[in-house]
Amino acid sequence: MSRINAIRDAVRSVTHLGDGPDASRLAGPEDAPALLAFLSDPAVHAPIYTLPRPLTEASVETFITDHLAQQADGEGLLFVREDRDGAIVGYSDIQVWPHWAAGELGGALDPSLHHQGRGTAGAAMSFSWMFRALHLDLICETASPENVPTHRLLDGLGFERRGEVTSVRTDGTTRASLVWEAMRADWFDRHKD
Ligand SMILES: CC(C)(COP(=O)(O)OP(=O)(O)OC[C@H]1O[C@@H](n2cnc3c(N)ncnc32)[C@H](O)[C@@H]1OP(=O)(O)O)[C@@H](O)C(=O)NCCC(=O)NCCS
Repeated sequence: MSRINAIRDAVRSVTHLGDGPDASRLAGPEDAPALLAFLSDPAVHAPIYTLPRPLTEASVETFITDHLAQQADGEGLLFVREDRDGAIVGYSDIQVWPHWAAGELGGALDPSLHHQGRGTAGAAMSFSWMFRALHLDLICETASPENVPTHRLLDGLGFERRGEVTSVRTDGTTRASLVWEAMRADWFDRHKD
């Protein structure tokens, strides 16, 4: 099987991000109300250019069903993480470009969980999982110039800065984004888990 098909098949067969009982699971249309409640906090949605605008239950449901279509194409995944009471406390949005064996991870944690090292730990686990489970060679990341926690997270995990691009939000407006990259070999030289 070609590398491209292996990547697409891996994306299509995924059900959880990572292993273990608290692994994030794929989002389904029934998650729209809880995901909207989570995303509605500006501390969650403001830094993220890929989210629907405006945020409504219908636009969030479309966001979820678009990702299910992307998964069927082997090119995208949307995961949610719940607490013990079933409230969504995090989400992860993975885009994959099979022809380049490349991917990108976006997402957010509930603000009550920020600044405790959880974002860095979760991102490190997710990047290792993307390289291994999705057979990627390259992970590309972006963040707005003022998103200092994400800069520190990516710099701290060993991602290399690659300049700046203009990102287009879902409503057509734009924002500047700084760009980072990590290659598989460099990642596992640094993260021997
Ligand atoms: C990005 C995000 C997941 C990071 O999660 P987190 O659990 O707060 O991250 P950590 O606690 O691991 O901190 C990561 C780094 O940011 C720093 N940091 C965290 N909160 C900070 C704050 N409010 N101000 C300045 N630095 C902060 C930490 O000190 C750490 O840096 P260090 O390792 O050099 O000390 C979280 O801030 C978030 O969900 N933000 C909203 C959405 C978003 O920006 N997503 C990323 C773009 S797609």
